Amino acid sequence: MQADNFEVLQKLLKQRSGLVVSPEKAYLLESRLMPVARKWSVKGLDELVALVRAKRDEKLLQDITEAMTTNESSFFRDTRPFDQFKSVVLPQLMEQRASRRHLRIWCAAASTGQEPYSLAMVLHEERVRMNGWRVEILGTDLSTEVLDKARDGVYSQFEIQRGLPITYLVKYFRQDGDKWLLSPEIRQMVDYRPFNLLEDPTALGRFDIVFLRNVLIYFDRPDKASILGRVAKLMPSDGVLYLGGAETVFGISDRFKPVEGQRGIYQPTSDAEPSSAGRQAAAF
Ligand SMILES: C[S@@+](CC[C@H](N)C(=O)[O-])C[C@H]1O[C@@H](n2cnc3c(N)ncnc32)[C@H](O)[C@@H]1O
Repeated sequence: MQADNFEVLQKLLKQRSGLVVSPEKAYLLESRLMPVARKWSVKGLDELVALVRAKRDEKLLQDITEAMTTNESSFFRDTRPFDQFKSVVLPQLMEQRASRRHLRIWCAAASTGQEPYSLAMVLHEERVRMNGWRVEILGTDLSTEVLDKARDGVYSQFEIQRGLPITYLVKYFRQDGDKWLLSPEIRQMVDYRPFNLLEDPTALGRFDIVFLRNVLIYFDRPDKASILGRVAKLMPSDGVLYLGGAETVFGISDRFKPVEGQRGIYQPTSDAEPSSAGRQAAAF
């Protein structure tokens, strides 16, 4: 691909999704954008960029942006965050929200749904203790294609084998040929909506728990900092933010601080919005 065409794509992806493509990663453009080139009936990436310059067609720009996202996910990814959710975070928040009996959870890079559905299954297991509670789970992603798959709740044998406890497989999935269908009772616990993390999330409302896992790694430092700043504004001071195993707020944003004794989870710092219950941050 010509150098100036690489720069056009690099700039377009940075502007539309925050994705940073360094010259060493140029090969990723070739492998991921060739299907887009074929779909738009052009021979290669130079011709695809020529089409971008000529048309500025929104659908074409969306196809390019979505094709470049990495949608890797799995049920109960990394195990620990979900164990911690069940045994530490959920009991603590249930105590703090006892009078309101309402929890809102946001999976801000939901991909194909394994993360929000893992949370939904954990919450469903707690349904006796949570009788009378209203729990909302919102899954958002930049890519509309992955959200369609998430809504369908249909997974392959390979996807099911990665991380899903056998007891949950038996309880919440039905086999249909070589596919596994998630039960409607779990599917209906999650709402999906397209949302770009580069935009202002205020209209999504406030959240007690935010899963922002394995997405900040694709952004540069200023974008990471502004995303964390906007997320902090939506959370009470006793809210909990989950990041991926390779992600941190250190050296990026002072809007969150780590929860002592609990790896990988963070709470808004005191200059973020006050707790809706008017309490201090939780001592987990
Ligand atoms: C690697 S997946 C992570 C999925 C899940 N959170 C997990 O940890 O398994 C990253 C997701 O972030 C989404 N993404 C990338 N850039 C985004 C942006 N600017 N706004 C919203 N989602 C974005 C991608 O479409 C992709 O589905």
